[in-house]
Amino acid sequence: MRYLVLSLTILIILTGCQVATTSTSNQTTAIPTKTIPATATDQPNPSSTKTETILPTITATETSQWIWVEATQPSTVTPLPTMTPSSSTNDSLRNLADAHNLNIGVAVNNGLVNEAEYAELLGNEFNIITAENAMKFGIIHPQVDSYDFVAADEIVNFALAHHMQVRGHTLVWQKQMPKWLQYGDWTSEQVSEILYQHIQTVVGRYRGQVQVWDVVNEGITGQGILRNFWYKALGPEYIDLVFQWAHEADPDALLFYNDYSAETINKKSDKIHELLEGMLTRGIPVHGVGLQFHVDLGAEPRLTGVAENIKRLNDLGLQVHITELDVSLPDNPSEEDLFLQAETYRQILGVCLAADNCNTFIMWGMTDKYSWIPSTKPGSGAALIFDENYQPKPAYFALQEVLKTETP
Ligand code: G3I
Repeated sequence: MRYLVLSLTILIILTGCQVATTSTSNQTTAIPTKTIPATATDQPNPSSTKTETILPTITATETSQWIWVEATQPSTVTPLPTMTPSSSTNDSLRNLADAHNLNIGVAVNNGLVNEAEYAELLGNEFNIITAENAMKFGIIHPQVDSYDFVAADEIVNFALAHHMQVRGHTLVWQKQMPKWLQYGDWTSEQVSEILYQHIQTVVGRYRGQVQVWDVVNEGITGQGILRNFWYKALGPEYIDLVFQWAHEADPDALLFYNDYSAETINKKSDKIHELLEGMLTRGIPVHGVGLQFHVDLGAEPRLTGVAENIKRLNDLGLQVHITELDVSLPDNPSEEDLFLQAETYRQILGVCLAADNCNTFIMWGMTDKYSWIPSTKPGSGAALIFDENYQPKPAYFALQEVLKTETP
């Protein structure tokens, strides 16, 4: 009932929207040649690298307490009227987040920023973008000797034009790899050379424009064991190396380890904690952990465990970003599903705001029109905060309400 009343009080009329412009480049760059150093020469003290960080930190509100709330009875729920988001008013998520020094954003596929309605909403409502696919190895480095920056440039140029930050995703992952690499007959030395050159080229190109990189994505199994192509080729040392190489390419970028199902305390998050603690001890430049938060309604991670996990990473001096939040609903979701989804979004944002070391809240897409969920998990969808017609859902208003009512 509480959020029904609050939602109904938040009726904001959109006026005077800004239409986005995007510039693109079409450039293919030959892979440079450079000898791989046996060890990195530039290994800053992690505590000193924290002082170089670009992103602001937020102050926790001591009184914030976030607990799961029982669903409102569907029979008492009055449908929200169709309304437009408050893009050009002080109540856009972006404006509200700015007051909290919070980065709020979404993952974006290139091409979409050329769609006027999409671009307008994106630029007005968010202050950070993640490249959903454009910077992955197979897309940005499709041939052994050439790169394709068209898609990534499109996203970065949009962000620059709209004064947004960019999260680079991702340098090292076992998926979306090019065939030439995955099925090539490479020696360890060659794999190392390829990866070094890749990181120097990609991170170097966007130096100063991509503020945060997911350096390693999903490199640990649910049982807490290292995995992937890179691990098999280079051994466990590959993780230290890629963070050092990324730091060499852009000493000002924040460097993150990013994973799913590691939000709360479990075997995977234990391993991440252990891994990063070891890296910090060895002087490796690592600045934080990305908690993805791909959530199915009804199977949310325990929030007390999430808060505990974020706190133990803070104790290591690490930041935490919410990096890929979406909350899947069953097909043809009920009104109750939408309100429970809103409550999940509300509470996850609350956990981030309440933590000393969480200043970034990113959803894995902006509109249900474009989401990875329906094609990957048939029978599920509607996971984002705007519907397929770009209309804000209860989850949008829940986030708006949190940002309006929490003290910055
Ligand atoms: O680029 C081709 C296009 O040429 C072709 O016409 C089309 C036909 O299906 O496929 C296109 O590639 C797809 C690509 O997304 C770009 O749209 C791939 O098939 C598809 O598999 C790929 O899915 C992406 C997925 O990662 C790959 O594993 C999703 O969009 C993307 O949202 C998803 O994102 C991951 C994060 O990177 C890491 N965390 C989990 C998250 C969700 O799986």
